[in-house]
Amino acid sequence: MEAAKTFQPGILKGKVALITGGASGINFEIARTLAQFGAAVAIMGRREKVVAAAVEEINKAGGRAIGVPGDVRTAEAAQKVIGEVVSKLGRLDIVVNGAAGNFLCPAEDLSSNAFKTVIEIDLVGTFNVSRAAFPELQKTKGLIINISATLHYSTTPWQTHASAAKAGVDSLTTSLAAEWGHYGIRVNGIAPGPIADTVGMSKLSLGMTNGDNLSDALSQVIPLGRAGLKSDIASAALFLSSDAASFISGHTLVVDGAAWLYHQPAISREGLRKIEEERRKSKL
Ligand code: COA
Repeated sequence: MEAAKTFQPGILKGKVALITGGASGINFEIARTLAQFGAAVAIMGRREKVVAAAVEEINKAGGRAIGVPGDVRTAEAAQKVIGEVVSKLGRLDIVVNGAAGNFLCPAEDLSSNAFKTVIEIDLVGTFNVSRAAFPELQKTKGLIINISATLHYSTTPWQTHASAAKAGVDSLTTSLAAEWGHYGIRVNGIAPGPIADTVGMSKLSLGMTNGDNLSDALSQVIPLGRAGLKSDIASAALFLSSDAASFISGHTLVVDGAAWLYHQPAISREGLRKIEEERRKSKL
């Protein structure tokens, strides 16, 4: 794992982190990594069994983890979870707002409730947990990391709901960084691109025609030539949680191999060179 070769062991020793949606996928990898580098971690999720399994895996590997089941959509649940974290682990330094819900759906088929559901999990949930964590983060001069996306930088088909939610999350990142910086609280975001072995990626694969290979297809449209790994996102979270990032706030770090910037050119590199060669020849 690259983080182990790059970061000093124990850089988060004595810190306590809450990771919402931390029982699976990218967020679990973040929880595992923060624990590996010394933080005690609390995993919040709706599915108690999945949360328990995640906690067990981290504890078995020598980390310290607890489960705090709950749904980020209600302020009461967020408040309860923060209380539990502080009573069981003593403090709160890092909040990773990772809980999200998503599915692919054309806007004309999207019900109002479906739109609202995603906004409530991603955006309202991020606010609820951040707001409930504020008094504790104020005490520890802690930090927040909001897991965002690049969906809304341009447009993404069938992702009206998630794009709107993540645009809101980015706005929360900048607003809270500006308002809470005075208390010594840093607020940043991470915008992952396509990440291998995730629910999001398997949903994309379902939409592909038989015989297409998603990894091959992605390598064509991601300048760095591969899909991201969960560890790429966890390393970014570890960096933002570390003192090396102590003057970084209000920033959403895009971790996508330059994918969102890329547009397939109308003319290939080879085609362009051929045109140039012919232009030169015709001048001779
Ligand atoms: N396409 C269109 N609408 C969908 C949908 C889909 N694939 N999945 C859910 N909805 C709609 C439901 O029909 C419902 O709207 P309605 O009342 O008008 O029918 C609304 O969204 C709420 O759905 P419901 O299943 O009751 O909500 P929930 O709170 O149990 O779960 C999600 C919502 C988004 C979390 C759920 O779709 C889910 O489990 N997704 C997979 C897990 C996931 O998203 N992981 C994160 C990946 S980034």
